[in-house]
Amino acid sequence: MLLLNGPNLNRLGKREPDIYGKETLDDVERDVRKVLQRYSHELDAKQSNHEGELIDWLHDANDHYIGVIFNPGAYTHTSIALRDAIQSINVPVIEVHISNVHSRESFRHTSLLAPVCQGQIVGLGTKGYQMAAIFLGERNGEEKNE
Ligand code: DQA
Repeated sequence: MLLLNGPNLNRLGKREPDIYGKETLDDVERDVRKVLQRYSHELDAKQSNHEGELIDWLHDANDHYIGVIFNPGAYTHTSIALRDAIQSINVPVIEVHISNVHSRESFRHTSLLAPVCQGQIVGLGTKGYQMAAIFLGERNGEEKNE
């Protein structure tokens, strides 16, 4: 499984903690990895502030991963190029937003990416990443008995 985070999410924990919480990106990655262990799936986690790099990783995901958990940050609201990249691959992509974008500024209410994603999780804090991991884990195999 691939966990992708877009611009400014490397600042998680320090960035507007009242909106995004105190967990760091390392914490998020650790928690998602833990969830996926239940399904015997491994996790690669990448973050970039650069649109083109995210596009390259999405293309690459097609041959290497069974699912992508993606928080595209502000590119959600602006990037036709990322939308085209998601549309060009066959692996399911789940769009995740930590904050409830619908209760914020109106420019955050539109996602150019949501129509080409399998689904979208919004406003559940960093737990949303784990919810996406549960969905993709269940979709791709049996849960291990502890
Ligand atoms: C975000 C919401 C976006 O509007 C914002 O630009 C981000 C973070 C979220 O996780 O809530 O960078 O994707």
